[in-house]
Amino acid sequence: MTPEIKPEQSIELLKALHILTRDGKMNQDSRRKLKQVYHLFNFIEPLLKGLKEEGGDISLVDHGAGKSYLGFILYDLFFKALNDGSHIYGIETREELVQKSRELASHLGFGRMSFLNLSVADSITSTALPERIDVVTALHACDTATDDAIRFALQKHARHIVVVPCCQAEVAGVLRRLKGGMLASTALSEIWRHPIHTREFGSQITNVLRCLQLEAHGYQVTVTELVGWEHSMKNELIIATYKDLPRRRPAERLQEVLKSVGLEEMGERFFTESGACRADA
Ligand SMILES: C[S@@+](CC[C@H](N)C(=O)[O-])C[C@H]1O[C@@H](n2cnc3c(N)ncnc32)[C@H](O)[C@@H]1O
Repeated sequence: MTPEIKPEQSIELLKALHILTRDGKMNQDSRRKLKQVYHLFNFIEPLLKGLKEEGGDISLVDHGAGKSYLGFILYDLFFKALNDGSHIYGIETREELVQKSRELASHLGFGRMSFLNLSVADSITSTALPERIDVVTALHACDTATDDAIRFALQKHARHIVVVPCCQAEVAGVLRRLKGGMLASTALSEIWRHPIHTREFGSQITNVLRCLQLEAHGYQVTVTELVGWEHSMKNELIIATYKDLPRRRPAERLQEVLKSVGLEEMGERFFTESGACRADA
């Protein structure tokens, strides 16, 4: 099926993002890219529509924005048509990318987009951002930047959190050093024999812990696959929506998982302040 360019879409933007060729044509590659972009947009659009129906402006922060194509696509397909103070912020440590995004936004007249040359961790306390943010996204933000993005979202009481984690080396490093705590005395210690298995197990456990962390803050969590995303193997999509759900059970499970795999020392990372119910509280 060929994805169609919507009438309101900016052709200039699609060219700048290399979704359309320079002469405005679609080839097989650009069709695939456009399909992927719509696929991701289809997950986020209902969240934005829901917020809009509740009234008020929407604030969205995209962490580890890179060339900011997620932010630009969201702006073009949704925010552009809003006649209000809704705003998209892109957070990125590479200054040249921040500068390029600023220039592109200015060229396209996308006035309610800002790009900040900050690390995700520093953005948590930056005065350049509002106290509350409605939607937080982080698409392949490197390593622990996803964890910082989650911390940011919890601090800002985000209504929706959408992350596609990248590789996370921190947990695998601790697992390797401690050789798996309770698991070390079982046949599952095989996971520590080959580094690639330790790394992949570390990634999976990290995402399990992230989901429990979000649930321990009252969020409802859905995990799905971002199919066919840019040749990347990292395509686990985690969507969390704040529902003020009971927190004790996920907090207990989080602590149990940490203990089972010998990651107790990482408790602080996954038990962040702002309203989490600590299992031992
Ligand atoms: C793999 S790219 C993904 C870019 C974009 N989100 C996308 O999906 O196309 C990761 C980006 O995150 C940025 N980044 C990595 N760590 C960061 C951090 N701690 N704070 C802010 N940006 C970070 C990198 O400079 C890079 O541009």
